[in-house]
Amino acid sequence: MHTWKVERCNLRRQTAALLPELLRVTEEVLCNGTYILGPQLEAFEHEFARFLGIRYAVGVASGTEALVLALAAAGVKAGDEVITTPFTAIPTIAAIVMLGARPVFVDIDPDTYTLNPDLLPGALSPKSRAIIPVHLFGHCAEMDAILAIARSAGLPVIEDAAQAHGSCYRGRLAGTMGTMGCFSFYPTKNIGAYGDAGAVVTDDEKLSTELRLLRNYGQISPYHSILPGYNSRLDELQAAFLRIKLNHIEHWNQQRVQLAELYLQLLDIPEVRHPVVRPGHTPNWHQYVIRAEQRDALWHYLASQGIQANVYYPIPAHLQEAYVYLGYRKGDFPEAEQAAQSVLALPMFPELTPEEVELVVAAIRSFYGRT
Ligand SMILES: Cc1ncc(COP(=O)(O)O)c(C=O)c1O
Repeated sequence: MHTWKVERCNLRRQTAALLPELLRVTEEVLCNGTYILGPQLEAFEHEFARFLGIRYAVGVASGTEALVLALAAAGVKAGDEVITTPFTAIPTIAAIVMLGARPVFVDIDPDTYTLNPDLLPGALSPKSRAIIPVHLFGHCAEMDAILAIARSAGLPVIEDAAQAHGSCYRGRLAGTMGTMGCFSFYPTKNIGAYGDAGAVVTDDEKLSTELRLLRNYGQISPYHSILPGYNSRLDELQAAFLRIKLNHIEHWNQQRVQLAELYLQLLDIPEVRHPVVRPGHTPNWHQYVIRAEQRDALWHYLASQGIQANVYYPIPAHLQEAYVYLGYRKGDFPEAEQAAQSVLALPMFPELTPEEVELVVAAIRSFYGRT
């Protein structure tokens, strides 16, 4: 195992700080005897909805399944088209394909890596059934423009907010602006479980009922299914862990903001382009992603210095082997392809210390001969 001087995301620090509480609720849940669809999930759903200022949160098994269930609740079926970007985590695309629908891509805004609304009208067709903007790295997509286009086309908007817990756009929180918002609580997310977990949020009561049915075999009561559903429930232990973490999210996001400011201030060299924050946006800094000259050489140099950076995402979805059948080609989405060549995510997690940021910055400076 590589021993890093600075890790990309060290989860042990947060766990150590919370350990007494985590152990306490573990004992509580284990002794309670209800492990699926119990009081912890119900409480977490209320608390997460309150945090977002939305009416309903439905806990599900993962962020991927949040998207699958949201698309299903929106009525997406085999043969329908769902519009999204090719520069996203692959589960966004996998979720669409799991329903037999077809992903239709729109290139990104190169500054924010989010769906470019100017290109959205060109992707609409009579088969379009939904739009999934992705709030990548914690920066929200341009929702006003996207929502306006969706409204005039009569399409639901399903926000992929897997990386955007607490991100804000013109006074509204990520996940609360569209028809439904989908969250992941994968361990490295801004609120992370100790396993897989996710949620769909909505203000629409009918959709929330549908989502609750879908996550539990379509059962309206035990052994009475009124529609074909899934097994996609957020278990009691994860819900209990997430309730503890939810109490800290605002503070943790604030720590990320301070770390982002430090990177910006200390890493002042022309070879590095810092993330762009558009007016009216408050990212949650899920990732701090720079654009770097000689990206791969820098990445390897950092590794040789014990600094763990990463590339999200080296291959855009339209060029992934799994999705060749969609018929897209290299050159179809130049901004996504260019981003895949030049982005580099620097270490970022709330417990990262300013001294560690200084080590990262010093190594980048030394790579470019700017000591
Ligand atoms: C943008 C995005 N969408 C969807 C997902 C899927 O979430 P999960 O890993 O919980 O299934 C992730 C995280 O992996 C993600 O980053």
